[in-house]
This record gives sequence, C-alpha cells and structure tokens, in this order.
Amino acid sequence: MTKVDYVIRGGQVVSPTATIHASVAVHEGRVVAVGEDALMPPAAEIIDATGKFVIPGAIDSHVHFRTPGYDYKEDWHTGTGAAARGGVTTVLEMPNTNPPTGTLEALRQKQAIAKAQALVDYGIYGLLDENNIGQLEALIDAGVSGFKCFMGNTFGDLPAPSDGAMLEGFEILARRGMRCTVHAENFSIMARRQAQMEAAGRTDAQAHLAARPEVCAIEAVSRAVIFAEWTGARLHIAHKSSGDALYLLRDAKRRGVDVTVETCPQYLLLDTGDMKRLKGILRVNPPIRDPEHPPQLWAALKEGLIDMIATDHAPHSPEEKTRENIWKCDCGFPGVETQMPIMLTEVNNGRLTLQDYVRISSFNPARAWGFFPRKGAIQPGADADIVLVDMAAERTIDQGSLFSKSKITPWHGRKVKGLPMLTMVRGKVVMKDGKILAEPGWGKPAVQEMPAPAPRNTHKTSAAIVAFKG
Ligand code: DOR
Ligand code: ZN
Repeated sequence: MTKVDYVIRGGQVVSPTATIHASVAVHEGRVVAVGEDALMPPAAEIIDATGKFVIPGAIDSHVHFRTPGYDYKEDWHTGTGAAARGGVTTVLEMPNTNPPTGTLEALRQKQAIAKAQALVDYGIYGLLDENNIGQLEALIDAGVSGFKCFMGNTFGDLPAPSDGAMLEGFEILARRGMRCTVHAENFSIMARRQAQMEAAGRTDAQAHLAARPEVCAIEAVSRAVIFAEWTGARLHIAHKSSGDALYLLRDAKRRGVDVTVETCPQYLLLDTGDMKRLKGILRVNPPIRDPEHPPQLWAALKEGLIDMIATDHAPHSPEEKTRENIWKCDCGFPGVETQMPIMLTEVNNGRLTLQDYVRISSFNPARAWGFFPRKGAIQPGADADIVLVDMAAERTIDQGSLFSKSKITPWHGRKVKGLPMLTMVRGKVVMKDGKILAEPGWGKPAVQEMPAPAPRNTHKTSAAIVAFKG
C-alpha cells in the first residue's frame, strides 16, 4: 500500500457544520482521507494533534504587502511569513503599491515578486480606476483574482474613479464573472471635511474620525450596490466598520445581489475609546467607530450578513504611525499575523463557536473568491491547507516579535488564548511553533473558478451602445 506523506492524528476536525474526532491523511499536497484513525493508510510521518483542533487555513481577502514601491514597510516574504505565523494559508493582495496594479506591466512585475517570495498561496487584485477600463480584460486574462476600486482615498492616494468609469468597469467584470472589492467611502465628502478640519487647525486623532463620518460609507455602499445590481457584477464590501449601512446590504442580499461583506478584528473589538489612548497607531480607513457599532457588527457576523473576517493588513513603520499631527500618520496597521489568535480568544470568550470561526475565516472566503472546494474545507481532494490550533495556549501579543516588518500594532500587550501552532500549505508544513519552515517561492497563485457570469442589462452597456448602428 502506498505510504501517504502525513497522517494528522488525534485532533478534532472542524467544518462550519461539524466538529469530529478524526484523522486526516495528506498526500502530494492534497487531503486524501478524513476518518477513523484505524482506517488511515500508512504514513511517512505522523503529526500528533492530540488535544488540538484541526481547521482549514484562514483565507484573508484583504492584505497590503507593499511591494513594489514601499518595500521598507513590508515585502512578500515578510507579509506571507506573517500570514503563515497567523494560520493564514491564502491571501488576496491589494493593488495600492507603486506602481499600482492597474496595468499588465505592473501586474507582471508583482506576479514575479510574489512567485519568488511567497510562503503561502495568494491571489493578486487588479486596480479598477478612471484610466484603466480598457485594460481590465487583459488583467483578468493575466490572472488577477479580483479587482479593487477605491471609492475613497487611503494610503497611496489613488484617485477614486468617476461613477461613469466605475459603472463601465462593472459592466466588464460582470461579463467575466469577476468580483470587485470596494473601499466604500465617499471621497468628496471626506476631502471637503478634511480640508475644513485642517484649516481649523485640528491635528488630533478625533479629527480623522470627524472627517470620515459614517454617511460616507452608507452612500458609497449604496452606490456600489446599485452598480452591481444593474450590471450583475459581483461585489465585495471591504472592512465594514459601522452598523449603519447593514440594512442596505441585508436588503441587497435579499434581492439576490451577489454581494459579500467582510469586517476586521479592529472594528469588532476596538472603538473610539481606544483612539484616545492609541492616537495615530489606530488611524485607519475607514476609521474605528463609536462603541455602539461593534455589537451591530457581531450580530451581523452571527446572522451571516457579514460573510467573513479579513484583516486589512496595512503595515507602516513605527515612525510613520506615531507623528504628532494625525494627518501625517499613515493609515492602517498589520493584522494578518494576529487575526487568528484574537478571534480564537473571542471563541474562548463564547462570542462565537469554532465552527462559526471556520465559516467566516475560511469557508465563506473560499466560496466568495472561487477557491472552494480546493480551499476552505478539510475534505478529500482539497488542498492540504491546514492549521493545528491549541485553544488553551496563551500569549501576550508583542509587536517587537511580529514577523511583519511593521513592528507596531494596536494589539500590542493584548492577552490572547487560542493559537495556531502549525500551518500547512498544500501539504507542506510552513510554520511550526512560530518558526517558518518553508522557502520563499513555496506559495502559489490560488486556483480560481468563479461561478458562471451573470451579467444584466447587457443591451445597455457602454460597449453595446457604442456598437449600435441604428
Ligand atoms: O487604513 C488603511 N490603510 N485603509 C486602507 O484601506 C488601505 C490601507 C493601506 O494601504 O495602508
Ligand atoms: Zn485595505
């Protein structure tokens, strides 16, 4: 009988619907059996999971790895190493690098970097902006996993596309079945507010929040939903920070709009009270909200209205995060390494079950991005992207020991309980007890198969109308 590469023995295997005592056989990168230990094939190596939970690796649909352009903040080796440390086996990386990933040339450049450096699997986002609508199809053909549209400005200051360009972009993505992630904040409201605040001499941390009120997100979510519904483009709402626009999304989902929603640990667990203490360290877009918002996000996560947890891993240097003037502090902070311990702590606190966690961290993102059933589940045929979790292990998060280049995080000093102890990507142990064991280049583009495109109003697209001869 052929020996398989590994049998993971003695743990409890978790899916969104069940937790079972079972062994997992892994061979040539795939799961080949899940079941009774006595029935497992012989293995070259046994991994002892006694007392641990065996979960599908997390899929983080929102990370910024900064290369090319800002390599001093992060690169693909440190970014994916941080992911491996954090039990994240697939990442989707954002296009606000320099050059932005809006042209074929920039995509090719980033693909080469990722190929050489990645430790975990990945997808790369293409940019949808005012000037690259004609290149979207070429970016799709060259392998982007989705698109990002910055409706509001953030790090990199990429200008928001006009509604005309956005709609036309959505028409193209709808025809090709791709999903577009939106940074849903209204740029003109924010620009006006920020200018007013700066003119008034406000440089405090609260001023950032005041410049980006929730209405910016409500309006932008609503506009993105309207364009997605009209065109049939798949939509993904990045980093839902407030409770306000949830009603729009509930309604859109009920109408059958293909919209998925993510939130991040910082919006679930931090609020403006923490902003007073952390100031620029907590400056992020969209901003951390008032304390009435997190309970609404938790409820939406439980209900399934918010589909998934992502991190918006946005590394910057400590110097860039601690300037006196809030407008001079770069927005965002690292997160891919700390998401799992932070959320597992909430599982231990009884806020969600481990099955819920698997649903929001792996199963739902895999389905949204067309990675399921290759990823997002531990079942025969799936990639062996597996994490061993010790729900009793405790640690205090220490920013100095992050694998990320960005040694500054609002989670510094937070006590967590529930840690990833081992991360396997396609059958290779890439992290064990905090040590990185893979060579750069192990990570591969995640194989994607989106459901059939479902474009709407195709006779009224820009392309159809331009072609019409009367
Ligand atoms: O605060 C943020 N920083 N929000 C984003 O959406 C982007 C990110 C970055 O790239 O630094
Ligand atoms: Zn982001």
